[in-house]
Amino acid sequence: MASEWSISEPTSDDLASACQLLAETITDAFRREGIGHLQDELCQEIAHKTDLLRMAVDGVESDFYFLVIKAGHDVIGTISYGPPNDLIGALSGNKLKLVGEMGNIYVLPSHQGRGVASSLIDAMLEHLYEAGVERFCLDSGYKLAQAMWLRRFGEPSILARDHWGENSHHMIWYRDVASERLANPRYH
Ligand SMILES: CC(C)(COP(=O)(O)OP(=O)(O)OC[C@H]1O[C@@H](n2cnc3c(N)ncnc32)[C@H](O)[C@@H]1OP(=O)(O)O)[C@@H](O)C(=O)NCCC(=O)NCCS
Repeated sequence: MASEWSISEPTSDDLASACQLLAETITDAFRREGIGHLQDELCQEIAHKTDLLRMAVDGVESDFYFLVIKAGHDVIGTISYGPPNDLIGALSGNKLKLVGEMGNIYVLPSHQGRGVASSLIDAMLEHLYEAGVERFCLDSGYKLAQAMWLRRFGEPSILARDHWGENSHHMIWYRDVASERLANPRYH
């Protein structure tokens, strides 16, 4: 991890910067996936993710644990662990309904491709390992993110072909915390 980055649980001081990151990153991801015209879905996605983060920071009725990564005072990435989204439950025939999901992995476009997400995933795996969590799942319908998770986590446990339309698949990975933590080169 680059030395100018720090990873921590978000506080209320980080909210403005983190919410700005969510709006910018999700808007950019929609554009790059060719779905930027779906303005209603875009606004709903930003509002939903912002609510999850706010509730976790406020400690109000939240089952989500968030980490943020900062360059100085600026939040440049987020990750969470919490209840799986409805699609994971549905596509797994409810088998993964009780397995926690690693999600909300967002990295500011200007900082992508430099290992920020990898650092967040490593830190979350460390947290889960220490908390005694054995398994986690992670999903994606974004093609660009899928390419990265295929590289990091291998073939998905569930592949829902053409779920989002022709050649637009949805992928779910169901993985072991200890093994994924050991797969990190730091432990070799
Ligand atoms: C997906 C996202 C979180 C990745 O963040 P990032 O900081 O750019 O990712 P990293 O630089 O840490 O790279 C992660 C891994 O993907 C690999 N990778 C990077 N760019 C890649 C590409 N274009 N194709 C394939 N693999 C790629 C990296 O080599 C790294 O693999 P490694 O750990 O084996 O070296 C970021 O691009 C993002 O926020 N995208 C928009 C939102 C999104 O799709 N979130 C995920 C929702 S499931």
